[in-house]
Amino acid sequence: MSVGIESWDQDHRELLRLIDELKDLEQNESHQVIISCLEYLMEYAEAHLASEERVMKDEMYPDIKSHKAKHDFYRRRITELQKKFEDGDKDWNLSKLIAFLMSWWIEHINKEDHKYKTFFQNKQKEIEGKLLSERWRKQL
Ligand SMILES: [Fe+2]
Ligand SMILES: [Fe+2]
Repeated sequence: MSVGIESWDQDHRELLRLIDELKDLEQNESHQVIISCLEYLMEYAEAHLASEERVMKDEMYPDIKSHKAKHDFYRRRITELQKKFEDGDKDWNLSKLIAFLMSWWIEHINKEDHKYKTFFQNKQKEIEGKLLSERWRKQL
């Protein structure tokens, strides 16, 4: 479901795809390969969360505080889970981590991210332009 900003829709699709890919890796790859892939996913996710927060701040989105609190909850929880997995905690396995990732992202996109759709409606072009130039600058 679209949140109205194409770059973010792309991020969401890519994040769900990466989580899905992790499921396949679980069967076939070593702990080390999975850890690297997980790290990539975490970086991608962090870049997306930070991007939403930057735009919300710039555009003075009224609900920024509660939205950011939801992102921060995710950051704390996933760091904790990632560490457990990396340390080889027996009570913790990749399936549980994937299940958390999948349910958090789907719920967050559909419930929380959807709330900003109307607020950003008339600013789509401006925001897309900003996001695009940020991406270019990062690649230089
Ligand atoms: Fe968000
Ligand atoms: Fe998002």
